[in-house]
Amino acid sequence: MKKAIILLLLISNFNVNAQKFEGLAKTPPLGWNSWNTFATDINEQLVKDIADKFVELGLKDAGYEYIVLDDGWMSKERDANGNLIADPIKFPSGMKALAEYIHSKGLKFGLYNCAGSKTCAGYPGSRGYEYQDARSYASWDVDYLKYDWCNTSKLNAEGAYMTMRDALKAANRPIVFSICEWGDNEPWKWAQDVGHLWRVSGDIINCWDCEVGHGSWSSWGVWKIINMRKDIRKVAGPGHWNDFDMMEVGNGMTDAEDRSHFAMWTMLASPLIMGNDLRTASKETIKTLSSKEVIAINQDKLGIQGFRFSNENDLEIWLKPLDNDAWAIVFINMKDTSTTINFDWKKHDIGDDINGKSLDLKNSVFRIRDLFNHKNLGNTKSNLKAEIGTHDVLMIKLEKE
Ligand code: GAL
Repeated sequence: MKKAIILLLLISNFNVNAQKFEGLAKTPPLGWNSWNTFATDINEQLVKDIADKFVELGLKDAGYEYIVLDDGWMSKERDANGNLIADPIKFPSGMKALAEYIHSKGLKFGLYNCAGSKTCAGYPGSRGYEYQDARSYASWDVDYLKYDWCNTSKLNAEGAYMTMRDALKAANRPIVFSICEWGDNEPWKWAQDVGHLWRVSGDIINCWDCEVGHGSWSSWGVWKIINMRKDIRKVAGPGHWNDFDMMEVGNGMTDAEDRSHFAMWTMLASPLIMGNDLRTASKETIKTLSSKEVIAINQDKLGIQGFRFSNENDLEIWLKPLDNDAWAIVFINMKDTSTTINFDWKKHDIGDDINGKSLDLKNSVFRIRDLFNHKNLGNTKSNLKAEIGTHDVLMIKLEKE
């Protein structure tokens, strides 16, 4: 009897730990991450300025919440007790104080580490220190952990990420767990119960459709990442997202390309993590990033990842079923010249078999809303006609009349 009770206790304890925190990231996380623009050149003042900008520029109001410090926030060595410490020069007040500042603005705070012995930039990784590091994050009031995959030699990815998941659970603070193993171990097959989001590719770079090689690895332009993975949309949903990487909006592409990039990340139900310098961002960049009607598509409560409907004649058409039988549609002009569209609703059967959704254009009429330009464009009784500039997007929402 005694043995059975002990066994039961052990099993129940095991079960408690073998879960991620539920109830987090019910819609894709919205935030900012330091890596794309600053790499390891980060500091306390920068982060405070970014938090201030979230409020000043209306980004908080648009829904952005997490401010995530990527690689480079730590000292090169742990302290004598093996604890991680913030770099005292870059972050003289320490992480708890920084978290407090960010929380005082009504925002949330994220940090980065790595499953390997060292992070990609050579700072102390969490391998062998998972529970200790998770306790540090909890004690600093961290809300989000991005967990990378450098220097992992022969570690098993699923196991390594489960260990950190369990460590976060044991530390007993709800922390969004962002898996970053670049899609190498197909996390969409095993990460649903491990993390809240997982990267699907290697690092993004600020170009429309390029690949930039660095020897053993490459950085990928926007369309390279979009086209890299097939058949993974079915695993995305509330609490578990395919992460198409931090955005490059405002980092050097044209305004049209930025709009299209942003539209696609919303359609893919990807986390929307800004990666630009908000202190110097142009009006057009902020307009794109804070476009509330577009963000609402990403944040739709069904959490269905959109899909490609067609890409004929250099016109990409993507669809995303939404709550209340509404649909989002993007038309992206891939040409180097502008294009006109003349879309006859009656000629198309639109459906999403995976999610059992269909858009009944034959028997119902839908209102059309232009989401970037906040305009009504009539309804589906007549053809949709528009001119779209090079690499630009028309993003609409259809709602039953
Ligand atoms: C990469 C990761 C990037 C960034 C970088 C930091 O592995 O994909 O997003 O975190 O490491 O060193």
